[in-house]
Amino acid sequence: MSTTSELTRLREFLNELIPSEDQLVRLYQNFCAQIRKGLGSKTNKDASTKCYLTYVQDFPTGNETGKYLALDLGGSKFRVLLIHLKGDSEAEQITKIYDLTERELHSTGVELFDYIAKCLHEFVCEQKVDNEHMPLGFTFSFPCVQTGLSRATLVRWTKGFNCSDTVGEDIGLMLKAAIARRPGLRIDMVAILNDTTGTQMSCAHRNPSCHIGLIVGTGCNACYTEKVENCERLDSKYKDKPKIIINVEWGAFGEKGGVDHLFTDYDRNVDQNSINRGSQIFEKMVSGMYMGELVRLILLRAVNENLVFAQCKLRKHITDILTKKPHCIETKVLSDIANDRGDDWPLVKDVFKQVFNLNNADPDDCMKFKFICDVVVKRSGNMIGVTLSGLVNKVGESFSVIGVDGTVYRCHPNFDGYMRETLDRFVDKDYKYDMMLSEDGSGRGAALVAAVVHRDYMERKSLNAKLRQ
Ligand code: GLC
Repeated sequence: MSTTSELTRLREFLNELIPSEDQLVRLYQNFCAQIRKGLGSKTNKDASTKCYLTYVQDFPTGNETGKYLALDLGGSKFRVLLIHLKGDSEAEQITKIYDLTERELHSTGVELFDYIAKCLHEFVCEQKVDNEHMPLGFTFSFPCVQTGLSRATLVRWTKGFNCSDTVGEDIGLMLKAAIARRPGLRIDMVAILNDTTGTQMSCAHRNPSCHIGLIVGTGCNACYTEKVENCERLDSKYKDKPKIIINVEWGAFGEKGGVDHLFTDYDRNVDQNSINRGSQIFEKMVSGMYMGELVRLILLRAVNENLVFAQCKLRKHITDILTKKPHCIETKVLSDIANDRGDDWPLVKDVFKQVFNLNNADPDDCMKFKFICDVVVKRSGNMIGVTLSGLVNKVGESFSVIGVDGTVYRCHPNFDGYMRETLDRFVDKDYKYDMMLSEDGSGRGAALVAAVVHRDYMERKSLNAKLRQ
């Protein structure tokens, strides 16, 4: 049995990863300051959170109908979907997942988009809709400067993607060109959107109070509805509609120092060993791509300081694995073991067996490992709750629903609760919030954006016809 002093030592050792109230207050203030900078036309260049304009200004009513195609590119897989919106907030969809190998992830942009167009072509033939001229919404979950709904210039790759000849290019044009290179493929790409926007739209489809979209998955980001008068960078021709969705791209928060006071040596190590050093600092502290790696680094130091596995016969072997095998602890593990109630620790032991080939681990080591994982996840949930509070307060509605998607949020049993801990402290008392799990935001959300764009187009067309009469 661990002595209380051993546990106290571990708790002290992990203390730098447990944000204090003051540190969270500073996080809140720094984040809100970055949002203000991001929105301002003169200050935007100095902001870490670029607050990209999405040009999504119409919201679903729930009555949308029709068939739409969607493409979803933003994680380790990419998907093609055929979505049938049926009114009454109902939808049916057929999805096909395509693997993205290292080859596509690190190819040229033309190769990547040719591969996407090929998959799209196969899909429409399989679904027997190759003769229909269908609108397509493209969920492309990377930072882009948009100049309209279907024009998006890639600013940088994130989440391990690195295709050449793409940064600075218009992704919409690249996809259209790849479609045009395939004889017989007739598809009309009408909108490019971020997965956060898709998530917000898919939740707004069922609840019009959804003013915020959040993703906590491989990457982490949020969007929210802003009043056009607060968007200095928005051209006046878009100001006849009252609102617009802003893609915050908060993964980049911290690049100007906003999270320095919470940054540990482990975070520094993760950043230094990434392919995008100095970028996406907040994302590296909170998202699925990096949390497992943080646990590996923390555990390694804890073993070296005799805080965990101190009596274990395989101690040297465990240290070797932790040292030599970056990413040996997957973020999925953090969610899996959170369900282990500590009754003989079957789930933690399973992880130890897989990663270290260790049988019959000591229950104390199991408990300590679970504690380390929990500290990392809780820090993430608490930090995201703080930044989300900034958005809830910025939206300023008496009630805001936050639409959420992403594997970390979906799979970790305590993540929702960790976000609420800080949301409850930082959301202004005049405002209420709730969270809602999105039903496939990246897919259905893309179809909904395509549908509202189509609706807007039809309305304008009929108005023009009336004016001509
Ligand atoms: C990364 C991307 C962002 C996306 C997020 C979640 O942060 O830059 O665009 O929304 O991951 O997938």
